[in-house]
Amino acid sequence: MSADITKKIKEKYEAIDQDVETHLEGLLHSKPINYWDYIQTDALLNLQIQRTTFPDENVFIMYHQISELLFKMILSEIEQVAKAEHITTEVFTDKIMRVSRYFDVLTSSFSIMKDGMDIEQYNKFRTTLTPASGFQSAQYRKIEFASTELINLIDKRFRETIDRNSSYEHAFEHLYWQAAGKDYKTGKKTYTLTAFEERYKEEFIRFTKFYQNNNLWSKFKGLPKASQSNEKLIKAMRHYDHTVNIKWVIAHYNTANHYLNIGGNTAEATGGSEWVKYMHPKYQKRIFFPDLWTDQEIEAWGTDV
Ligand code: HEM
Repeated sequence: MSADITKKIKEKYEAIDQDVETHLEGLLHSKPINYWDYIQTDALLNLQIQRTTFPDENVFIMYHQISELLFKMILSEIEQVAKAEHITTEVFTDKIMRVSRYFDVLTSSFSIMKDGMDIEQYNKFRTTLTPASGFQSAQYRKIEFASTELINLIDKRFRETIDRNSSYEHAFEHLYWQAAGKDYKTGKKTYTLTAFEERYKEEFIRFTKFYQNNNLWSKFKGLPKASQSNEKLIKAMRHYDHTVNIKWVIAHYNTANHYLNIGGNTAEATGGSEWVKYMHPKYQKRIFFPDLWTDQEIEAWGTDV
């Protein structure tokens, strides 16, 4: 061992009042690491707990788990941008492209859901999942909160009535996704939405407090003017917005149509939303970075797919 390494190891443990000899002896006894220990394959491969015996239910569970892992990777990249004190145009662009690549994978692989399960099996095992829904994915909501300002996630019908002075509570009640679980006339929420909020609302409030000024859109607007007109960065931002809010959404919508719209009859979704309207991008017009699109592009959002 080089003297330099020995010195650094000594310094490291002395700094925390630890006996370096004991740590070196521990190294002598510790077992070598294996792939399966490191990747935790045993734990990972035992996380698929089916509610029925249909083999395709396993595809459904695993693909959701894969999606959640990619969501976690996306959130980690966004967090690095959010927490960076000074970020260069190159690093910003690089991070947006990484996030986009993860979403590109999610979009192109959605065919595993659309064409990868037996329609009959799906419609049997899904009855055991009611009232659970992918709608209750907290990480998906966090990606949205971390990508843009809250105003861009407000239901289009109420956007004009909400501004910086509105309370968080009021804004939260008018987020676009409330439409999937709420009767706006009576204000009554579905169990799917109520349970989701009971579990995650506090966490979302904490999360949005930080991201309200540190989301990707605010961070972009805080860059020097020259960076904000950098073509590569603008292209990356537009690519991300388009992939999440049109391509992924439409892949998801087409999948729902494939399984739930049989012979022109629309089946009720497990989360109970009016999904045909709710899920199509042309109705909600969710856009993370609105200033990067022309009026015509916004007008045509989700109509050409
Ligand atoms: C056969 C496959 C799928 C079908 C038929 C399907 C169907 C639906 C439907 C109908 C909704 C609307 C809410 C409701 O009433 O339940 C929904 C929402 C949602 N699903 Fe899926 N889904 C599928 C797969 C997935 C996958 C793999 C994910 C990945 C995590 C996912 C994530 C979501 C999310 C995030 C929402 C809320 C979207 C929003 O608010 O716009 N879904 N899904």
